[in-house]
Amino acid sequence: MAFDAGSDSRQASKSEAIYPMRLQKFLARAGVASRRGSENLMTAGRVRVNGEVVTELGSKVDPNVDVVEVDGQVIRYGNPGVYILLNKPEGYVSTMSDPHARLTVAQLVPTSEHPGLFPVGRLDMDTTGVLLFMTDGELGHLLLSPRHKVEKRYEAIVDGRFTDADRRLLEGGIELDDGMTLPAKVTIDAYRNGYVEGATQSTTTAITCILTEGRKRQVKRMLSAVGHPVLKLHRSQFGPIGLDGLAPGEYRELTSDEVDALRASVK
Ligand code: URA
Repeated sequence: MAFDAGSDSRQASKSEAIYPMRLQKFLARAGVASRRGSENLMTAGRVRVNGEVVTELGSKVDPNVDVVEVDGQVIRYGNPGVYILLNKPEGYVSTMSDPHARLTVAQLVPTSEHPGLFPVGRLDMDTTGVLLFMTDGELGHLLLSPRHKVEKRYEAIVDGRFTDADRRLLEGGIELDDGMTLPAKVTIDAYRNGYVEGATQSTTTAITCILTEGRKRQVKRMLSAVGHPVLKLHRSQFGPIGLDGLAPGEYRELTSDEVDALRASVK
């Protein structure tokens, strides 16, 4: 049995996490709670390993062998997840395959190395910016759930002169064909004169819009509803994750701090 309160008895691969690992680390990594929160669960007697309550903070588990439960619920750990940030360029659909043979975002991330990768939500074909991928279905689901109100920041160029009155409409929530929107945070960044492809008016407006929902084509529908169709749309932030210089079409793995921050955003 790997569960003991003593020193590490085994070494895993040289570079990877070593099993057995501290129980509170296991719980935090499995997304149950923060490290401190996990310690509190343990000392409160809510954690069992192989059927026995474990309150000793030095205790260790091997996720391959030991069965860990919190409040009677078995906690799965599995392989460490893969978490990827892509700066989606225009012209790609946000699906892993496409029956019409269009370019897909799957072609931009290492799917052959990580076959379980899936995109967390979608961006329209012509929308650019932050698209997260992961193999962690539970976290992906939580990030998309409207219950957790994870903020998504969009930078848009809209047709016409978007006014303060328009801003207040969006901030109050507006009626779309699938119901009222939650209040958005909107700032007017700049007015521009000059040609922008698709514009019908000589003035266009750059705005920033922060939503906590993720309905289909939501930003475009909201802005059309107040008379300002979107000409360009870019997502610059998803919860705590921004692009920070990542070029269009490039991806990188998230750091463990970034993954922790994502987890914290849905607690
Ligand atoms: N809202 C939209 O309208 N389109 C996107 O791609 C994302 C959010």
